[in-house]
Amino acid sequence: MPYFIIVLGTAGSGKTSLTSMLHTYLVSHQLDAAIVNLDPAVEELPYDPDIDVRDYVDARDVMRRRGLGPNGALIASIDMLLANIQEIQDLVWSMKANYILIDTPGQMELFAFRDTGSIVLKSIVGDAKAVALYLIDSTYASRSSNIFSALLLAASTHARLGYPQVNVLTKVDLLSEEAMGKLTGLLDDPDTLSVEIASEKQASLVWDEEEISSILEKLLVFDIVPVSNTLGEGFDSLYAAIQRVLAGGEDYF
Ligand code: GTP
Repeated sequence: MPYFIIVLGTAGSGKTSLTSMLHTYLVSHQLDAAIVNLDPAVEELPYDPDIDVRDYVDARDVMRRRGLGPNGALIASIDMLLANIQEIQDLVWSMKANYILIDTPGQMELFAFRDTGSIVLKSIVGDAKAVALYLIDSTYASRSSNIFSALLLAASTHARLGYPQVNVLTKVDLLSEEAMGKLTGLLDDPDTLSVEIASEKQASLVWDEEEISSILEKLLVFDIVPVSNTLGEGFDSLYAAIQRVLAGGEDYF
């Protein structure tokens, strides 16, 4: 049975780049890996997908024919995919790869908040083991309240899909050493992080420091792995985190 790696995250967080780099990483370690592109709106891909939903539905075409905007067309496209879901599942399962990477659309509300994205994923993955990689752009995580929002969204995605999850900090090559040190330090120190979050007005309007601290305790249960998709850094740690979820830590190299 294949292992599924589902790559999720907000628009521009690095899903396509990470899918491409992780595929290269797995293949360079002699592991069979295949890619499913689930984004009907993507124009160019840095990888050659083994299965591409654009062969079934093209969001640009849906936009033109139905007179919809980009968001509406994407939502309609994913709804339309359900009509072909059995064929897509059969194709995916015929691939015989050890790892099947699923690259998802930028409008992650499709997968984190609406039924259809979750139904599409569950139909494809079936009863195989799967891990969700939730990508957080580390340049966005420069303020503590942004880290808090990103972790809440990551938890919300997990609550929706129910797959074991690894949170991945992308684009760490764009952070200075000092900024990176501060970010990882805060993620390792929920007490300081909650003090900082509480000192920023948005969160403290609703929660006090103690409440934020107890929420953070729950939000930080998933591994958080820093990577650079452009430099290919952090992928040994990412692979280790994936293996801890999928194979109880067993290494296939
Ligand atoms: P959507 O599908 O549009 O939501 O985007 P995405 O999440 O697939 O992100 P994508 O991989 O297209 O990356 C968005 C931009 O960020 C591109 O210009 C990438 O080259 C850049 N990028 C992605 N990952 C990294 C990274 O680790 N470091 C740097 N420096 N740039 C990155």
